Order: sequence, then C-alpha cells, then structure tokens
Amino acid sequence: MDSFSTGIAAYDDGDIDTNRTSNPHLNDMIASRYSRRQALMGGISAATAAVFGGALLSACSGADAIPLTVAAGSSGQTTSGRPVTLTGTVSGGSATGLSWTQTGGPAVTLTANGGIATFTAPSVTANTTLAFRFTATPNSGSAITTDTTVVVGPAVLGFAAVPRSLADIVTVPAGHTVTVLFRLGDPIASGVSAFANNGTDTNFAQRAGDHHDGMSFFGLAATGSTPEPASNTRGLLALNHENITPSYLHVAGQTSVSGVRPEAEALKEIECHGVSVIEVSQTGGTWSYNQSSSLNRRITPFTPMAFNGPVRGNAILRTLFSPTGVAGRGTINNCANGTMPWNTYLTAEENWAGYFRRSTGDVAARGGATARVNVSLARYGIPEGRAGNNNWTTVVPADPTSTNYSKWNITVNPAAAADGTGDFRNEAFQYGWIVEIDPFDPASTPRKRTALGRMNHEGCEMGRRVVGVRPAFYMGDDAQNEYIYKFVSTAVWSAADATITNRLATGDKYLDAGILYVARFDADGSGTWLPLVFGTGPLTAANATYAFADQADVLVNTRIAADVLGATRMDRPEWTAINPVTGEVYTTLTNNSSRTAANVVPSNPRAYNDPRTTGGSTNGNANGHIVRLRETGDTSEATSFTWDIYGFGAGSDLDATNINLSGLDATNDFSSPDGLWFGLPFNITGTSTPLMWIQTDDGAFTDQTNNAMLASIPGTVGDGAARSVTSTLGGVTNTVTTRIGRAPGTTLRRFLVGPTQCEITGIYSTYDGRSLFVNIQHPGENGTFASPSSNWPANQSGTPAAGSRPRSATIVITRADGGVVGI
Ligand code: FEO
Ligand code: CA
Ligand code: CA
Repeated sequence: MDSFSTGIAAYDDGDIDTNRTSNPHLNDMIASRYSRRQALMGGISAATAAVFGGALLSACSGADAIPLTVAAGSSGQTTSGRPVTLTGTVSGGSATGLSWTQTGGPAVTLTANGGIATFTAPSVTANTTLAFRFTATPNSGSAITTDTTVVVGPAVLGFAAVPRSLADIVTVPAGHTVTVLFRLGDPIASGVSAFANNGTDTNFAQRAGDHHDGMSFFGLAATGSTPEPASNTRGLLALNHENITPSYLHVAGQTSVSGVRPEAEALKEIECHGVSVIEVSQTGGTWSYNQSSSLNRRITPFTPMAFNGPVRGNAILRTLFSPTGVAGRGTINNCANGTMPWNTYLTAEENWAGYFRRSTGDVAARGGATARVNVSLARYGIPEGRAGNNNWTTVVPADPTSTNYSKWNITVNPAAAADGTGDFRNEAFQYGWIVEIDPFDPASTPRKRTALGRMNHEGCEMGRRVVGVRPAFYMGDDAQNEYIYKFVSTAVWSAADATITNRLATGDKYLDAGILYVARFDADGSGTWLPLVFGTGPLTAANATYAFADQADVLVNTRIAADVLGATRMDRPEWTAINPVTGEVYTTLTNNSSRTAANVVPSNPRAYNDPRTTGGSTNGNANGHIVRLRETGDTSEATSFTWDIYGFGAGSDLDATNINLSGLDATNDFSSPDGLWFGLPFNITGTSTPLMWIQTDDGAFTDQTNNAMLASIPGTVGDGAARSVTSTLGGVTNTVTTRIGRAPGTTLRRFLVGPTQCEITGIYSTYDGRSLFVNIQHPGENGTFASPSSNWPANQSGTPAAGSRPRSATIVITRADGGVVGI
C-alpha cells in the first residue's frame, strides 16, 4: 500500500527579525506549527502542515510506511507582495500527477513544478485567506488530496532599518544589492573615451552630467525604439543634472585669468547641466547602460527649445537668439521631474536665477525700481549687482560670434534694440518653466510648457487620472515661503492617450491649456485652490503691486499673482507625490530657516532651534515636514481640499512635545525631506496600501547621519488629530493648532544611507518594482580636487579608493531573492 504525506511551506523571504506587525512573530509561528505537525505525524498516519522555511520539510519526506490517510492541513501566514512556496511531498510509496490548485480567495498565478508551487501574495487591505489543494495519484488507488490555507495580510515594510551612518558608502539592508550604473562623466556615445576623472575630460555633451537628480524609467520594447511600460529588463532612464561640484571638474579647480574664465572650463561646467537620456538593460541579473544606443541623448543649456502655451511668442521672451519669442536655447538647474502616462519626461527648472549676471545700473536702465520688469526681476531673486554663478559671462569665446556665454548676462545694452531682440535682457524670462521631453525621439525639440507658470519649479507630477475628468498636475516652488500649485487641463483625460505615438502633441493637449491654481491652507484643516486667471480678483491692470497686462503676464509672474491672491507661504515646497490608490497629494516642505515663532501657521507650525552635536545650530523649521491634501470629492477638478501633516522631520533627540511631533526614533528619524515618490500602481508597492519613498537633503542632521532614504506605508488625510504646537525662538513664544497624521511608528523606516556629503534625490522603479533606481548627488561636495572628502562610488565595493574623486551617480537596488524592493 502506498502512502504519502504532504508538507506545505508558506515561504517568507523577508527579514524575519524585523517584522513589527502585531501578527505573531514568524519564529513563534514556525515553532508552533512544527509542534503541531510533529503531533500529527506521531498520532495519525499522515499530515499536512504549513510551515515557514524549507528546512523543516525534510522531516516529512522519505518512506515511513504510514497508511494512506490524510489529515486536514494547517495554514501559513504572510503579507502582500511576498513570495510563497507551497510544497507537497509524497512518502511511503510512489505517486504520479502531483499538482496544486487554488480553491479559494483572490486568484493568484501558481507557478507549479510537480509538488512545488509558488506565487506572490496578492495585494490586500485586510487579512485574507487563500485556499489551495494538493493532489497526488498513487500508483494504485484513488487520487489523494489535502488542503491548506495561506492568510495574507496587508503589505508591511520588508527590511530591517538601516542605522544612521557617517560612512562614505551607500548602505542598504541585508539581502539587497547596490549596482553603480551611471556616473558623472560616463560616455554615452560610441568612441567617447572612458572617464579619466582627473579633470582632463572634455565633451560633456556626450557624457553624463553632474549632480544627478529627478529621474524616470521608461520601459523599452524589444524593437528597441518604442515604449513598452511593462518591460522590466530594458528601458530608457531620463535623469536631471541639476548643478555641478566645480572643484572636481577641472585639473586643479576653477581658474580665471584677470577675472576671465577659460572657455574650456566654462563649456564643461555648462554642459554638465541639463538632462541625460540613456538606454539601460538588465542581463544576467545585472544592470548596465548601453554606451552606443542610438536613443542616448544629452540635453544641455545649449539645446534648442520651443515655447508652448500662453507665453509663446510674447514680447518678454524675445532675445537676440529668439527674436520672435517662440524658441529658446537650453534648460538649466533641472531639479525634480514628472513622468507622463503618454511616455514623456518633464524636467523642472529650479534655481536658474543664480546663473545670470546683472550689472549695477540695470534697474535704472529699465526705468527704475517701480517699473514692472524690475518688480518682476526682484521678486524672482535677480537684483542688480551680481556676476552670475561661475562667472560664465567673462569668457572670451574663440568664435567671436558665439553667444554661448554672453547669453547669461541680462544687463540691458543701451545700444541694442529696445524690444530685447538685440541682446539678452530677456533671457531670464526664458527660464523657470516646466519642460517636456520625448525620451524616445532624440531628434525632438523639448517644449517649455508656459501654462504651468514660472517659478523655481521643483517638479511636476500628474494626479490620479479618471477618464472624462480634467487631470491635475501638482508642483512646488522651492524657495523659502513659496507656494504649492496645481494646473488643471482644459482637456479631459482619455485613456487612449497613454499609448499614443505623437507624444509631444499629447503634451500639447494636456499641458498648454488649462487653469493654474495656488494653494491656501486654512486653520480648520480645509484649503482652497486660488485660480491664477487674468481679469479675476486682483489679477488686473489696476493691481497696486503689479499691473498685470494679460494671462501671459500672470504666468510669467506666477509668484506675484500668488502673492496678491493670498496663497499660504510654505516651508520650501519640494517634490509632490500622488498616492495611486487614494489620489492624495503629498508635498515635501524641506526646511525654512526664515520661519519664525511669530509667523508660524497651522500648516507650517514649527519654529525652533536645533543644535548640532558638533557645534552650532539651525533656527526656524530646521528639519521640514510633509504636508498632504485630499481633493474635495476626490476629483482633480476640485477647487478645495482638506489637509494634514503626514510627518514632521526631527532628530529623535529633539523635544517630543513641540518638535519631534511624529515620535520618530533611531530607526526613522530624518531631516529635510526632498525627494518623494510612490510605488507604481502596476506592482504591490502601488496597490492597496502603497509604499512611499522619502529622500533627504539636509544640513541640520548631518552631524548624526549622512542623507538617507526612508520607506513608508502612509495612512490617509485625517487619520490623526488636531494638535497644539508651541514654538519658542528668539525670545518669542507662539502656539498654533496644526493637523497631524497618526504617528508613523514602524510604518516608516530608514532604507538607505548615502556616502559623505551627498544628497539622495531621484527615484524610479521598473514596472514590477524589483529594480529601484536611485540617484546619489554631490558626494564629497565640500572637498577639493587636492583633498576629496569622499571617494564614492569608487569605494562602493568596500575596497578603499583613496584619492579617487567623488562622482554623482545613479545606482540600482535589487533584492538577492528577486523580490519587490521595499516590502
Ligand atoms: Fe533642487 Fe529643491 O531641490
Ligand atoms: Ca540636531
Ligand atoms: Ca530637490
């Protein structure tokens, strides 16, 4: 007589020592089930058991001449997104036709191989039971079946918190791999030499730029030319190069002769800004970029641009380069990004103002301080008497007709045409826009989308899309006390546009016509979107602050329009991210040294002194917070919302009553949230209870840790309570009542710490969430060419690389077990 027994293993490959849910600890469950199983084995002829871990299975295999009897199976438990292995074994004889089938619960895809079947625990919002049946047919006799169940709970963070670190290396949790993919200077065209990294390299129009920032991954079809979002092993990475660390770019740092910068140095510095598009692929489990791909592209401050939207052709855009105001040249200080569902990339021009020279006397030349153009330039941070970053305008180019360097000088040339077509007096108005790029067409001209306003654009993310509803695009203006905006398209969303081939024309449809709004956060937890529409409210020629001429003028002077509308001044709005399930909009407010106890408000409620352990301190809102809002009626067209604060940055050593309001501890304390991104809705990190990634860029907490990236599974607006917060600073004490979400506790955890003096910014994943791309910006930014303060990434392998100059770089993080990163 044949006999068999079955063992069923629900295999959880997460870090079992850090499971912080209220579920029984995994080791306890293994122990209890092992005991039960042993009892069954001892008292009855055969058993089905569910255990965690494969090691216990051996006890159940082998021929032990047990009569052919089957006992009921027991269950295993896991969480969404984890791989599960079901194992059925036969003992005491031989059997054929081993199989597993699902008999209950949300359908999963079983990958079976005889007695072993695997599946990924599905996305659920509450404990959910899945039932399975194992069938074996003995060589003689009837088929034998036995059932088991696996209970799946909501997703939890699937890694052990990484401690704070001051080490010069990227640290990630055990079981994860870091691959350095794309570094400053890496060549992106055939025949371009490998980066020497000693300051001698040239031709950055065909190399990676510096200061990697916002980034998107676009899946690439096998054809090698068209989008295939579901491609997990081949795609295009589009990424921003926000700025430069000049000390490492040249042989011996920046130089000048009698105040004149060498052209070659300036050219290199300029071309290190902009955007890269590169083809990347995963082969044999390892990611690399393709140096010779025809889709590789550098976009620099010299790349031709088109202007679209209401400001296109406006007199304020006329320059010597663009006498009709419909074209432009270049994009600069590209910070965060946006990923459009029609497979284009948005890049945001952030701190562009600093690059422009404006000589003393220019205010008078433009009609005095009250002239509208001077009011505008002052509001955007371009007063007269400034040389411009890096002194590029001092270059004497070899080609005397070149305006590559003179374009950065906006000082009025009195001998040039008064309409701006004879000099670059209007060049600063060509910057401060959201720019759309088609990464699949290297010959395409990027389009500056003027309908989305002009500011220190941090990024631009599209809200949740509903067919037939006008979509919204959310944006922060990153400067102290600036605002949060949204743009609502005139066009309603059509699902067919996600697969359209004329991508930039689709951008025209959604991004060139609509209404720009700015946010006002009210004390009662509600908020209002204030429309920036010429002719309404104070946005008229009669306005005393600024006489608006038309809608184009409102958009060019977005900040002034928001001022007079009474928008709420925020603590430096950085990235926005949209929860793909709830549609709630999160915005990082990184910090604000200008926030005082006297001007705290409910949505920006903290002003305090944060001491550094190494001496000195930071005043204001030193550590930032993350505000979130939910649109009224859950529609992108709403003109009102409710809000609360998801979390407040703070070292866990700070006062828990008025500063560390979210109760952070050593596993999750952070400062200055900047990058912010939700997992994609195509995998477990973007479904049911989505995962949110937070990246930091701080100066207040770097005495205790390098900048970091955390993972969170946030709740929803209103899941906390009103809370009174008292700010004490500079002899002033003031109390306001804010709205704070529930304390994140173990749903917020530090995942990564970067190398010395870096910022963590830029994040995207493959469709399946199993490869996570992250940018490490400006490691060793305070060092010099003679004495680099970081040797990353040359030292990422763990082998010291003394003397190696640091390089901004894109890394890829994968799990050794092939699972989804983060859960
Ligand atoms: Fe470029 Fe606001 O960070
Ligand atoms: Ca501190
Ligand atoms: Ca940023």
